[in-house]
Amino acid sequence: MSRRRGRFLVLEGLDGAGTTTQSRLLAERLRREGRRVHLTAEPSGGPVGALIRQVLRGRVAGGGGEGFDPSALALLFAADRLDHHAAEIAPRLAEGADVISDRYTLSSLAYQSLTTGDPAWVERLNARAPAPDLTLFLRVRPAVAGRRRFAESGSRELYEVPAFQRRVARAYQRSLALLRRRGERVALVDGEGPVEAVAEAVHAAAIGA
Ligand code: TYD
Repeated sequence: MSRRRGRFLVLEGLDGAGTTTQSRLLAERLRREGRRVHLTAEPSGGPVGALIRQVLRGRVAGGGGEGFDPSALALLFAADRLDHHAAEIAPRLAEGADVISDRYTLSSLAYQSLTTGDPAWVERLNARAPAPDLTLFLRVRPAVAGRRRFAESGSRELYEVPAFQRRVARAYQRSLALLRRRGERVALVDGEGPVEAVAEAVHAAAIGA
């Protein structure tokens, strides 16, 4: 029996933009509407994703995330993405489920373009990652995202430094323009309002996909 392929939706934004909360709320809402939904995230739950989380928390390369080569980390993110898509995302889409990923290629285009200083190389590394049906970008100013991160936890991961997040915000703008030039679908959602209002806007954009 052939089933219709599900839709592949990605949520993106700065650390503290709310991608994790909004991915969960979108999944819950689509399920209530009777769809089958698979919720996932990058770094993924697979073997490469586990390694990346260790690097980000500073548990490898002598205990400091900063000591890990940024190009090696870019390769890990790209490898995790291909494995994540092949092992988890594609099979669910083929079964007819919608897949929502908290971060995907746009994160690498933004973060790893900065950390490696070579956006063209990062773009090439990710060229084989299949495009989502829609990338939803939660727009939150770096200062607002920073206050939210601070409220959530005192500890900072590798990339959660305010000056870096301001640069990430600009890198996201450049990378969104790149996705549009490629003909990929992108939706910008104001992520600064109350959680329910943002969830409403995310849902509206997602069902238009
Ligand atoms: P995330 O899982 O959103 O953080 P947390 O689990 O702590 O809420 O993402 C972890 C970090 O990895 C985040 O700072 C963004 C970064 N990242 C990249 O630099 N490149 C990527 O390709 C991805 C997927 C994430």
